[in-house]
Amino acid sequence: MSRKPNEDHVFYRNLNRWYPAVQRGRGIYLYDTEGKEYIDGSGGAVVAALGHGLREIEAAMLTQLGNVAFAHGSQFTSPPAVTLAEKLTAMAPAGLSRVYFLSGGSEAVETAVKMARQYQVDRGKPMKFKVISRWASYHGNTLGALALSGHTGRRRYYQPLIQHTPHIVPAYCYRCPCGRLPESCALECADDLEKTIIYEGPDSVSAFMAEPVVGATAGALVPKDGYFQRIREICDRYDVLLIVDEVMTGIGRTGRNFAVEHWGVKPDMIVCAKGLGAGYYPVFCVITTEAVHRAIKEGNGNFVHGHTYSQNPLACATALAVLDYIEKNDLVRSSERLGAYLLDKLQVLYRHEMVGDVRGIGLFAGVEFVRDRKTKEPFPPARKVNALVSNLAFDNGLIVYPGGGGADGVNGDHVLIAPPFIITEGQIEKLVAILDEAIGETERSLR
Ligand SMILES: Cc1ncc(COP(=O)(O)O)c(C=O)c1O
Repeated sequence: MSRKPNEDHVFYRNLNRWYPAVQRGRGIYLYDTEGKEYIDGSGGAVVAALGHGLREIEAAMLTQLGNVAFAHGSQFTSPPAVTLAEKLTAMAPAGLSRVYFLSGGSEAVETAVKMARQYQVDRGKPMKFKVISRWASYHGNTLGALALSGHTGRRRYYQPLIQHTPHIVPAYCYRCPCGRLPESCALECADDLEKTIIYEGPDSVSAFMAEPVVGATAGALVPKDGYFQRIREICDRYDVLLIVDEVMTGIGRTGRNFAVEHWGVKPDMIVCAKGLGAGYYPVFCVITTEAVHRAIKEGNGNFVHGHTYSQNPLACATALAVLDYIEKNDLVRSSERLGAYLLDKLQVLYRHEMVGDVRGIGLFAGVEFVRDRKTKEPFPPARKVNALVSNLAFDNGLIVYPGGGGADGVNGDHVLIAPPFIITEGQIEKLVAILDEAIGETERSLR
């Protein structure tokens, strides 16, 4: 990656970096125009759940393109939208029965916030508007979603444009914000929601939003058993909607259709999922309850919202083909089984002093790096440790998803590993070997 930055008219993410040009994808591999092969070990940013180049998905998309690619959601429904909504509600926890389709994760997060707000107004609670979220979280980059995202680094530039919303402490067992060890945990991190609702005034709080397993900001943070059950109880006690952001975890990523199922909790809304389009087409959704739907139906009658690609037929046909493929190949179970294998293999990384924590659930794993394993002191952000590891892995043909700021909003380094569900055990071993090598090389370069 020592080449000069790309000199063309594209406004890239990092303006001082060279990007290879991707040409082809097959299975877990991507190939650039120079013929180099990469294991897509994170499905980009936890998107390509089925791998690349699936003919079945291509065929379903071409069929839909041959029928109709676009019709506006204010004028038509479509057979794929109807069937997809039926499938998703059958997959979701019982009682979630209505689906609103969208074309981006941030768009879906903001849709859930607005749906919650309109629900509150339409059922006669117009004072309820606040949405509480958590620190060390990510809900998207548009300004409304960024307001909920608890990540200082992403917020800093845009702070004056972001509305203030309340945040509670994260369920971050490796760095417990309540100073507990797992043995002495009393779930005070969940109780922080209750305290915050009381401080803010229960009559003003519309919803609480959280990722069931935190992804981009902290690297696969799995909450302790009982956490989401306690959160649900608190939400019920104060008449607050529970919205789970499953943009990364939804559709099988953690070994369940939805991650929240691990704890038997029924949310009021699920925001999902990159894995729904699996990289073949942008398609996201909000799945909600009959109660929310009814309040809006009997209230205004219109959900005062909408985007150009809401309920898009091509998007819905693509997602249907993705769900069919998952079902036919039993891939949610594969995610659970191969995820356990991956987590087991990743334990080898503890041989590097800079590896502080290896964690995850299903095919959703994170490795957190520390300067001092005993004190858990993070590296200074200027060392760009997550970028060093991921760039070295990239050079050696492995894509992982780097992140920083998990420890306190600014400090902290991790990488996310979230390969396609079709990965084999042998390919997992190769993935881990390349990552192991990249971490070793990083550690030597930091001495
Ligand atoms: C949990 C979560 N919510 C929302 C988003 C935003 O999705 P998008 O980038 O499609 O706007 C992301 C993206 O990584 C995410 O991980």
